[in-house]
Amino acid sequence: MYNTFLPFALPDIDHTELTQIQEALNSGWVTTGPKTRQFEAEFATAVGAKHAIAVNSCTAAMHLALEAIGLQRGDEVITTPYTFAASAEVIRYFDARPVLVDICADDFNIDPRRIEAAITSRTKAIIPVHIAGLPADLDAIAAIAAKYNLAIIEDAAHAFPTRYKGRMIGSKVSHQPSTNGQVDTLRNLQHAVCFSFYATKTITTGEGGMICTDDDALAERCRIMALHGISKDAWKRYTAEGSWYYEIIAPGYKYNLTDIASAMGLAQLAKAERMWQRRCDIAQAYSAAFCQLPELQIPTEGEDSQHAWHLYMLRLNLNQLEIDRAQFIEALKARNIGVSVHFIPLHLHPYYRTTYGYQAEDFPLAYREYQREISLPIYSKMSDQDVQDVIEAVSNIVATHRILARIGALPTP
Ligand SMILES: Cc1ncc(COP(=O)(O)O)c(C=O)c1O
Repeated sequence: MYNTFLPFALPDIDHTELTQIQEALNSGWVTTGPKTRQFEAEFATAVGAKHAIAVNSCTAAMHLALEAIGLQRGDEVITTPYTFAASAEVIRYFDARPVLVDICADDFNIDPRRIEAAITSRTKAIIPVHIAGLPADLDAIAAIAAKYNLAIIEDAAHAFPTRYKGRMIGSKVSHQPSTNGQVDTLRNLQHAVCFSFYATKTITTGEGGMICTDDDALAERCRIMALHGISKDAWKRYTAEGSWYYEIIAPGYKYNLTDIASAMGLAQLAKAERMWQRRCDIAQAYSAAFCQLPELQIPTEGEDSQHAWHLYMLRLNLNQLEIDRAQFIEALKARNIGVSVHFIPLHLHPYYRTTYGYQAEDFPLAYREYQREISLPIYSKMSDQDVQDVIEAVSNIVATHRILARIGALPTP
């Protein structure tokens, strides 16, 4: 039984991170240098991207990508209310407007069928968020982006390793061949994919992120702006082949990733497949157990997708339970299981409510699904016993609090 607390998330760290970090320290390169270039190259290969630019967070990655597409004050960017603060705050950095579009109830991702109605002459980009590691419907989104000449900046904070129709998230957005010229138009789409290596993510560098793109100009701009807007390969100025001379071409940011962090990233990348396989096994064990219980709704795996299983988002059928979501979470905590909620939709937060006057029902599906969602622990460090403990705890709470059980327990007349 679960005598000790099972944390909601834990990184999978062993001697390989220590060896890599030791190498970085021994080399004398502690900030951006050769380990970072190696991490970028290996990550680009892993996702099938032409360019990968390492930065110190996914938030920084999205900020740089929006800067690179030339986002301006007063512009609009379409995203989803069902996400973390970062996806919308980066739009506000430009004094541009995040335009929220409700989700698909089955997978929590932005509903492409609602996007066109939200487009205006000011719309510049779409930020789909691949919630939990399940891809948003990128073909539909790309078709709309091509039609209205919008950029696509994917928030892939949860989406490594995720596949959409066979291709890795991080590779170039593509489209089913069509007869109306859409494929040609897509070639010109501005497109970048932003990953997170935050502590709880599927691979971690403590804090960190990556911008992936096949667009040479966009990559070049992101690389320059990630390091003070100074001319190419600024980090090399302290190497043998480097030069003391540099030029500031724009007021950039300080978003570069250190070699210490990249060293950790290299070790994490090397075991990403093993960690993902383990999360798949955990998801399978959860779903096999919970699909038996009508009080619960298991997460969808999506068609034609590979789920990264960053999160296991379980839903409670509250009308069949005598306790609410908060009580369910308390009951899990009382059984020593760490849980979380993903996400409190943006439009419910004070800043977005007061700035844009949102009401809870403005995005009814995001609001409804949020109220019944709980995220269970899913990480490769979990033992089989941990997984069984979670299944047992959830099942036990359901059995104790199902409405049917109480009716069944009433004396028969
Ligand atoms: C959907 C989503 N986008 C962006 C981020 C931001 O990532 P980072 O902490 O690397 O900036 C997060 C972080 O949790 C996230 O969940």
